[in-house]
Amino acid sequence: MPDPTDAAPDPGQPPTPGSIQESGANPARLLQACDLQACLALDGAALGGFWSESQWRAELDGAGRLCLGIDQPNPEAPGGLVAVACGWLVVDELHITVLAVDPAGRRRGLGRQLLEALLAAAQARGALHATLEVASGNQAALALYAACDFQTAGTRRGYYRNGQDALIQWKRITTAALAGR
Ligand SMILES: CC(C)(COP(=O)(O)OP(=O)(O)OC[C@H]1O[C@@H](n2cnc3c(N)ncnc32)[C@H](O)[C@@H]1OP(=O)(O)O)[C@@H](O)C(=O)NCCC(=O)NCCS
Repeated sequence: MPDPTDAAPDPGQPPTPGSIQESGANPARLLQACDLQACLALDGAALGGFWSESQWRAELDGAGRLCLGIDQPNPEAPGGLVAVACGWLVVDELHITVLAVDPAGRRRGLGRQLLEALLAAAQARGALHATLEVASGNQAALALYAACDFQTAGTRRGYYRNGQDALIQWKRITTAALAGR
């Protein structure tokens, strides 16, 4: 997973008053190849340009990939895409590769809504576990994963370019774990 903590807008900043609504207003939907430009725009705004166009194309098109997004009308987010989450399904494990919410839409529950939708979609496709890596300094993401019952299963020392460690997060996906938060 990207470490946007030294490249993109501060993930801990308070929400900007304005157009992006609370979570639940719009359901998560499956993203497709036609969402490429919206994904690139959101990647630029939320992650400082994490993936190239060809990487996004592969993520949206590739076998075993699962990409979900949430749309909301917002002049600052072309295509209306305000949150995106992707993962790779490998046998019975979901490897989450990206989770990002437009900076103007944070702390409204969208990240959690989308993460839970991704876990549910993966479970429906046979996933029993989910895993991801997060920078040890990414307090917003760590708080979100803890709130969603992820556990730290290991550390990759100095994994990120800025020297931060990656904390491996792991969660068993069960119907009870998804419903009983
Ligand atoms: C991490 C991220 C996806 C969270 O999205 P979000 O929509 O703001 O998160 P939510 O509003 O759904 O928050 C759900 C819970 O996560 C925790 N949380 C989220 N952001 C937090 C923050 N800045 N500080 C502390 N806790 C936070 C809280 O427990 C929150 O529940 P609460 O609002 O009821 O207290 C978002 O900050 C983001 O896109 N960051 C940049 C990209 C990134 O770091 N992705 C993860 C890479 S591993």
